Amino acid sequence: MTPRAHHLRTLLALFSAVAVALALTVLAPVATPVARAVPSQGVLAPTPPMGFNDWAGFGCNIDEKLFTDTADAMASLGLRKAGYDYVNVDDCWMQRDRDADGNLQVDTTRFPHGMKWLADYVHARGLKFGIYEDAGYKTCQGAAGSYGHFQQDADLYASWGVDYLKLDYCYQPLDQYPGKTPAEVAHIVYHQASQAIANTGRPMIFSESAPAYFCCQGQNFSDVMSWIGQEGELWRFGSDIYDAWPSVLQNYREDNTPGLADYAGPDHWNDADMLEIGNGGLSLTEAQSQFTVWSELASPLLLSTTLSKLSPAELAVVENRDVIAVDQDPLGVQGRVVQSGQGYDVLSRPLANGDRAVVLFNKGDTAQTITTTAQNVGADPGSRYELFDLVSKRRTETTGTIAANVPPHGTVMYRVSTGVSGALPPATAVTVGSGTFQAGKPTPVKVTFTNHGSSSVDRVDVRLDVPDGWTVKSASRPFAVVKPGASVTATFDVVSSPPPPGLASKTLEASVRYSWRGQNLTETGAETVITNTPYESLAQAFNNIGVTDESNPAPGDFDGGGDSYSAQALAAQGATPGATITANGAGFTWPDAAAGTRDNVQAQGQLVQLSGSGSALAFLGAEAGFSSGTVTVTYTDGTTSSASLGFPNWCCSDQHAYGATPVIVTDHRNTPSGPANFGIQYVVFYNSIPLTAGKTVATVQLPDQPAIHVFAMAVQ
Ligand code: GLA
Repeated sequence: MTPRAHHLRTLLALFSAVAVALALTVLAPVATPVARAVPSQGVLAPTPPMGFNDWAGFGCNIDEKLFTDTADAMASLGLRKAGYDYVNVDDCWMQRDRDADGNLQVDTTRFPHGMKWLADYVHARGLKFGIYEDAGYKTCQGAAGSYGHFQQDADLYASWGVDYLKLDYCYQPLDQYPGKTPAEVAHIVYHQASQAIANTGRPMIFSESAPAYFCCQGQNFSDVMSWIGQEGELWRFGSDIYDAWPSVLQNYREDNTPGLADYAGPDHWNDADMLEIGNGGLSLTEAQSQFTVWSELASPLLLSTTLSKLSPAELAVVENRDVIAVDQDPLGVQGRVVQSGQGYDVLSRPLANGDRAVVLFNKGDTAQTITTTAQNVGADPGSRYELFDLVSKRRTETTGTIAANVPPHGTVMYRVSTGVSGALPPATAVTVGSGTFQAGKPTPVKVTFTNHGSSSVDRVDVRLDVPDGWTVKSASRPFAVVKPGASVTATFDVVSSPPPPGLASKTLEASVRYSWRGQNLTETGAETVITNTPYESLAQAFNNIGVTDESNPAPGDFDGGGDSYSAQALAAQGATPGATITANGAGFTWPDAAAGTRDNVQAQGQLVQLSGSGSALAFLGAEAGFSSGTVTVTYTDGTTSSASLGFPNWCCSDQHAYGATPVIVTDHRNTPSGPANFGIQYVVFYNSIPLTAGKTVATVQLPDQPAIHVFAMAVQ
């Protein structure tokens, strides 16, 4: 960016900050953050910082080369041009102890050239350099913390050319401040650190982790939030991100803590943590959603992966200028949820040019059409609105309805402007809906196509594609015209194939081709059909190897760490494949499975057929964890009963927890490298739930609790 552009942006951001502050005092009676008292430094983060931080992708597995490679890739891949300019080193760059003069010592095995050299390397590529420390006694990984050394450390960072400090808050020095609340102690130390940075005279963005240690409610959290913006530019407020969809949802939820968005604005950002894109745990749809939602929430955009290995599709996600422009919008107002429904949220944020950035977020596991209005999202009133889809780049116009069919875990992000310049095709949306499928029987599937714009479309062709093995009679239906505000519905008779046992998901894809003023256009939508079909027996549902042979323990994995029961130790207690085990009056058949093959069910809500009547349903099982969940029994007359089931941990908890009884007690286990842990008891337990008297069991639904492992079931 040219110095002039930077100057303009800073001025605009300052102006916006004042405008936002004024708006907030009217709208929300919260403590409005005051800019940090570091006049010489000006506004350091007029928009949320963008760049790289290693932690989510690498943990302590870092070295100098990771950061030189990252800096090179940021320049060569176009990321720097897209706005990514910080290269930040997280924990593990320093040693466990300070030197005799109290100076932090760089881990020279990982960083042989030291931090000044690395900062210079990063600066030479037109980028900025960030570093990590902790306001407590130690960093979260146990290296030397900054408490008691804030000035000394800040001077050191300044001498290296550091531009950004993330100050974590493990090992809090609470004992130094008797009588003070944890929030007051946090304020003292973060203020000291903030002053120390200011005293260096070097502009450094200050990222404070304190709120994350009080997330996200209660007096300490609100106390910390009341001063956090006076000391730094951004703050982690919640959980550490990890590379899986539930983590993205969790941080999203925390970022929507009531009142939190009020603290965001130019130079003050809620940090939802790093982007996991590229690390393998998110589908491309989920990766796009994290990027879209983080941008809507004005979070910092910090990549945390091997940049040179990003696929072209992933690179397209993180370099999407239109989405980045929302994140970096100079008005700096964090998006908020303006409408919610079954598995979805609609978010909206005002943008500096008067537009609205709107996200339709499908948090659920099935595709759905999400519908809102220009009024709901706070767009300036008008008779027509332009919708610019920031990912597909499609521009359409609507008279007010904003709708899209969104895939599971997916998002659609629009820039909504009031008024339309020039001719645009109408916004359209597809909804797919059906009843319950019964294998082999035709089920009507309705595909509705709606025209939300102000001009007609014609030569409309509605088509439905069904999953392999399913059939649909005449897959397409023509309609001559669909007028503004009108819908057409095509009904297709679909015959499904028998679903496989267990949980399965199938997608029906609808596509509607139409013509608008001679242009051929397409709108798509989908329906997701999720089935949970009973297994014929528990053995058919086996999905885990819990028992291995001592001569070949490698295939087993009972506990998620590669460990398993020893077949020899079990045999010594009478538990051999197919043997009868009697416990508390119940007769079980021990899994008839060879060592090293699937022999138990890790419970995830599976349905299993079982017949018999009695007073109790008995289980043989154990846990690689410690939790309970609900078992639901369905009887032949269609009624159900539910009860809670839990087992003690296989080795290491009270052997009677959850009302269980130890049945097979072995004296060691197998690990991938052989039999081990002799003298520790590895146990299989009996537990039971009551059955309704006089009824006959038809199916059993296991708890949705993967810590629970079931080897056998019996009606008693
Ligand atoms: C905490 C932080 C993470 C990371 C680690 C490093 O868990 O929340 O972001 O900095 O410490 O140890």
